[in-house]
Amino acid sequence: MGSEDPARTYRSRSSRLSSADAGWGCTAKGSFIDLLPAKAPRFSWLRPSVLWRSRNDVLARLFDDPTDDARRRWVAAQQAGGVGRDALVDRTDLDAFSFLLLGDTGEGDKSQFAAVPGLLRAGADTAFMVICSDVIYPTGSVNDYPERFFLPYREYPGPIYALPGNHDWYDGLTGFMRVFCEAPPLPRPEPRPRPFSRAWLRDLLWAKPDPADEAELAAARELRGAPEQRALQPGPYWVLDTGPLRIIGIDTGITGHIDSGQAAWLRRVSAGRKPKLLLTGQPIYVDNEYRPCSIEGGGTVDEIVRDPEHGYVAVIGGNIHNYQRYPVRVGEREIQYVVAGGGGAFMSATHLIGRVNVAGVDEDDFRCYPLRGDSLSFYSHLYDRRLRTRGLLAISPEQASALLAEWLGTRPTREEARRTAVARRTRRVAAILWRLPTRRFFHRWFSEFSDWDEPPFFKSFLRLDVDSAALRIRCFAATGCGEHELDPPLEDEVTIPLLRWS
Ligand SMILES: [Fe+2]
Repeated sequence: MGSEDPARTYRSRSSRLSSADAGWGCTAKGSFIDLLPAKAPRFSWLRPSVLWRSRNDVLARLFDDPTDDARRRWVAAQQAGGVGRDALVDRTDLDAFSFLLLGDTGEGDKSQFAAVPGLLRAGADTAFMVICSDVIYPTGSVNDYPERFFLPYREYPGPIYALPGNHDWYDGLTGFMRVFCEAPPLPRPEPRPRPFSRAWLRDLLWAKPDPADEAELAAARELRGAPEQRALQPGPYWVLDTGPLRIIGIDTGITGHIDSGQAAWLRRVSAGRKPKLLLTGQPIYVDNEYRPCSIEGGGTVDEIVRDPEHGYVAVIGGNIHNYQRYPVRVGEREIQYVVAGGGGAFMSATHLIGRVNVAGVDEDDFRCYPLRGDSLSFYSHLYDRRLRTRGLLAISPEQASALLAEWLGTRPTREEARRTAVARRTRRVAAILWRLPTRRFFHRWFSEFSDWDEPPFFKSFLRLDVDSAALRIRCFAATGCGEHELDPPLEDEVTIPLLRWS
């Protein structure tokens, strides 16, 4: 491991041990407040204009999804400009190094900035950072990059690479390709669709990319203008090859699959038993479900991951805004499947995840952040505030933890919750929350439309330490409290031996 590791000096604090370290009862907001721009808008998914600008998601699902064709055109244009077929970033000079990884960052509001001071501290010595999915909400516009990418991460000293999520595709990936690949907008595809055809109708309604405000973009680039901060990546999917580990990032577009050309590339760059880490916009195991990620024309990404000749040790995906880890046995091996989408946007509930049993993973081996009890308590407070029920719907973290442990047949990880008996009131309130119409659907959409602008934020980021012997993955919390910025709670840690596979 690298000799300097600021994250090592931290005391062992975690929301698994105390509700204070989950950020409940936080008295002093962190210094992230000072990083916010003076005119920071309060990002809200409830605004009709935001939903209208995001309409390409609905159009891609209703009509034929144009993403695969658009991606082929982007990749062809990159290759015509001199990018190699393997889309390789060669960092084989790195032998023992660390990097940061966070997903679903770009709301540009307090929940995004709340993660910044902690990651700057825990990642001070890291070689680079990767943003995994949804770099810019709501539509990936090039004109939102100044406030939602360059400004928040202006102090991060290394280069930043990224993978697009569905939101980055809502402008046809134009903003993403401009910022990360310095690619000009694509010309309109020819031939145009036949009038009144499905493709014609889709194109008519399709939100077009914003033209770049060149002066503002140039000024924003200066915020991360130091030579060691600059990064130029080959395209929307890429290989970052280091000495001990090959890191491969795929682009799953709007609907969560990959095109046949990308699959052929993925098979090619996955060949050989050098240890590999797959990064994706769509996690393969999430919410106790298996989503293997289909390939245009047949097959799945997970088949490529599971092939023992490919040497994959872990898969990390964004898109769901929390942290989850599933250690899955695949033959003689164990592959770590991780969700890491807690980097900035609203928190996706974890209390809806039932007792884990997918792919034979035992509940005791599953990890998530926030803990389910904290998630239920958070949402109970959110419902209470939104529905103006003056505390009637609020459940304390201890009560929520004790109740969830009872439902799941587990023991609370926190001593304080173990000593708590579940009150009748808690059961009644939880039953009300659970009886809201079409329970899962309602919760899912309420979760989608629930911004929270004060601590605890339950945001998270990963620090990965790599050398020839092992890959260590640690999930750190960003609560938004001042004390946790200096000493981010450690929510999960796993060390994967690499020697056996190489
Ligand atoms: Fe997202």
